[in-house]
Amino acid sequence: MPGRVPTTPQEAPIKTILRSKMFAHPGVVQLGPHHYRVSVVAQQFSFDPSKIVVPVNAKIDFYITSRDVVHGFLGLGTDVNAEIFPGYVSHVFATFHKPHKYLLACDQYCGIGHQHMTGEVDVVAKMPPPNASGSGKKTPGTASASLAQAGKSVFKSNCAACHQASGKGIPGSFPPLAGTVPAYAKSATRRKILPQILLYGMHGKIKAKGNSYDGHMPAWGDKLSNKQIAAVLYYVATAWSNKKAEPSQGYRI
Ligand code: CUA
Repeated sequence: MPGRVPTTPQEAPIKTILRSKMFAHPGVVQLGPHHYRVSVVAQQFSFDPSKIVVPVNAKIDFYITSRDVVHGFLGLGTDVNAEIFPGYVSHVFATFHKPHKYLLACDQYCGIGHQHMTGEVDVVAKMPPPNASGSGKKTPGTASASLAQAGKSVFKSNCAACHQASGKGIPGSFPPLAGTVPAYAKSATRRKILPQILLYGMHGKIKAKGNSYDGHMPAWGDKLSNKQIAAVLYYVATAWSNKKAEPSQGYRI
């Protein structure tokens, strides 16, 4: 059975925690033959990483922190359950005995996108060798193809919870990006607004495709690198029906 320890907080400034070795590059690290450490950063409204791959029959130590507000870290169907506080590191551990994909959910109300804050713990019989998944594979392509690829993964783990993988958003709650971004990307002056929205967030009433929105887009300037912001902008400006809204070279942030 998966084990569980109570949350063990360690207080420190958020920035110090995020810069620490464990959280600067969150993810899965093998510590021993049957021992893995998983570090996760929670933020409105996603987990980084959102997909966690761990093997069966190993001790998995989860260390989780938050960038912004209180979140939950609940592995549905498991004993993994922790409250996540900004400025603290929560620790839970588990051993999973059969391969299964468990849904990960935030179970603390954390804002308008709370119900979309989900992830996955994929328990596998055998761990894939490092770099075998996705990005490690070299596929011939242009610079812009890899930019779009990088942007797509940033989008999936940070933006899709609200704006949806389809880019269509949720009418009334999260505005669509598909079909709305080209009007900005194509105009020399309005184009400058796009990086600003990502860096500093956006608040207040807007209209998009006939629906009204009065939301709160968080600022991403302190959560994503400039490179990631440039990549996700490029992706958003070229994905779905937005095809070719972006000339070629992408954004300079
Ligand atoms: Cu994070 Cu609810």
